[in-house]
Amino acid sequence: MKNYTNVKDLGNLQEAIKEALEIKKNRYAYKHLCENKTLLMVFFNASLRTRLSTQKAGMNLGMNTIVLDVNQGAWKLETERGVIMDGDKSEHILEAIPVMANYCDLIGVRSFAQFENKSYDYQETILNQFIQYSGKPVISMESATVHPLQAFADLITIEEYKKTVRPKVVMTWAPHPKALPQAVPNSFADFMNEADVEFVITHPEGYELAPQFVRGARIEYDQMKAFENADFIYAKNWSAYQDPNYGKIISTDKNWTVSNRQMAVTNQAYFMHCLPVRRNMIVTDEVIESPQSLVIPEAANREISAQVVIKRLLSSTKLFEL
Ligand code: CP
Repeated sequence: MKNYTNVKDLGNLQEAIKEALEIKKNRYAYKHLCENKTLLMVFFNASLRTRLSTQKAGMNLGMNTIVLDVNQGAWKLETERGVIMDGDKSEHILEAIPVMANYCDLIGVRSFAQFENKSYDYQETILNQFIQYSGKPVISMESATVHPLQAFADLITIEEYKKTVRPKVVMTWAPHPKALPQAVPNSFADFMNEADVEFVITHPEGYELAPQFVRGARIEYDQMKAFENADFIYAKNWSAYQDPNYGKIISTDKNWTVSNRQMAVTNQAYFMHCLPVRRNMIVTDEVIESPQSLVIPEAANREISAQVVIKRLLSSTKLFEL
């Protein structure tokens, strides 16, 4: 594995899950594997779980970790080539990336969609600049269109809690006051389409996701119908992907808030959300506090998914031959 941006980077998914569950039993089994190696985590956007879990995963493997919050204390970075830098941005990312790469062996990048230009976002311009100019393995820690560390943790969680060989997993849109990226639902769809599950996506019309992530998944516009006999409900808000509404909120319908009303028609489904979550917008207090809520173990699995990815990335580079 050279970089980690999507489900295909993991290769055989069953083997990746098996490795994750083994690491979970003894997360310090490889505590010397990455000694004297350094993980640099670069954040263009805020984070709680990704920041802590990825750092902890690196520490479990014996790594040193450095966190850089680009917008707090670093020079403001210009990310577009060809601009005359006469504004407030002091440094260009094309110098900053190779400089940062000098100080580390592996780079994680968080860089959300900016919603100014759909092709700029969907070409993963910032993440790909890190891949192209750092010369180091790169992990998407939620970039413009994907959040594969989250989706892998979600899959591990489903594997741990599923009661049938092929559970029904429903990803539902839910309302939110701010326009959010499509990265989490894109990656969740990417993983569910490869996993052995019955996968259904439900959302109001106009919230269709990019076809390269939806692929053959069933789309159901009737949320109650989608929830019938579901084993897992995965709630998430996202803004519109389709033009001309890219990056915009086109519904705030509270009927889509996940409550006991919808959960009643499921097969006593587990409730999942990547967090942070807006209570009583995305999900009611009753559902998120119920015994069926997996949001805390799901977040705990972020450490495990990151540890598998870091271990594989560093094991497959030439670092250990130097
Ligand atoms: N789920 C997730 O990525 O959380 P943070 O944004 O807090 O890192």
